[in-house]
Amino acid sequence: MGQLDGKTALITGGARGQGANEARVFVDEGANVLLCDILDEAGRAVATDLGDRAAYLHLDVRSQEDWERAVASAEERFGALHILVNNAAILSPASIEEQPLEDYMNVVAVNQIGCWLGMKSALPALRRAGGGSIVNISSVGGMLA
Ligand SMILES: NC(=O)c1ccc[n+]([C@@H]2O[C@H](COP(=O)([O-])OP(=O)(O)OC[C@H]3O[C@@H](n4cnc5c(N)ncnc54)[C@H](O)[C@@H]3O)[C@@H](O)[C@H]2O)c1
Repeated sequence: MGQLDGKTALITGGARGQGANEARVFVDEGANVLLCDILDEAGRAVATDLGDRAAYLHLDVRSQEDWERAVASAEERFGALHILVNNAAILSPASIEEQPLEDYMNVVAVNQIGCWLGMKSALPALRRAGGGSIVNISSVGGMLA
């Protein structure tokens, strides 16, 4: 018996790296997983590899419309949404003097607004499911000045 039997999770940034591995662990523990990313080919390949309890959907975490479609898709395909993992993020390593404003704005849009939109979009579905969990992946980079 898995720790996540009967649960459904939506994982952003699921096409590679930690997100793909989180998806693998969740499926191994019995969950259904909707992997979301902007890397469609890689995301589809991961979902195919994980089998029937995984599916892939294009979701740009900066888009409220994409979020609404993804939450609806998780409920439609798997019956309910219990877990949101806000894993997608980008790194733009540059000093403040060198970094263009538009790069910094994009980091904020993906890493901060993306999480906020995810929580905002998923909360009604988690309530409909009778409760759930939101996991916001962070980094020590967020705690060190
Ligand atoms: N790998 C590490 O050592 C490490 C350390 C600290 C924190 N983290 C955190 O773990 C998480 C995953 O990191 P990773 O190393 O696997 O990174 P990664 O770059 O390999 O994966 C991030 C994924 O997010 C996706 N993504 C980027 N922009 C997106 C957008 N607008 N909409 C949807 N998806 C988008 C990318 O396509 C990619 O698949 C991040 O939140 C990161 O901050 C990782």
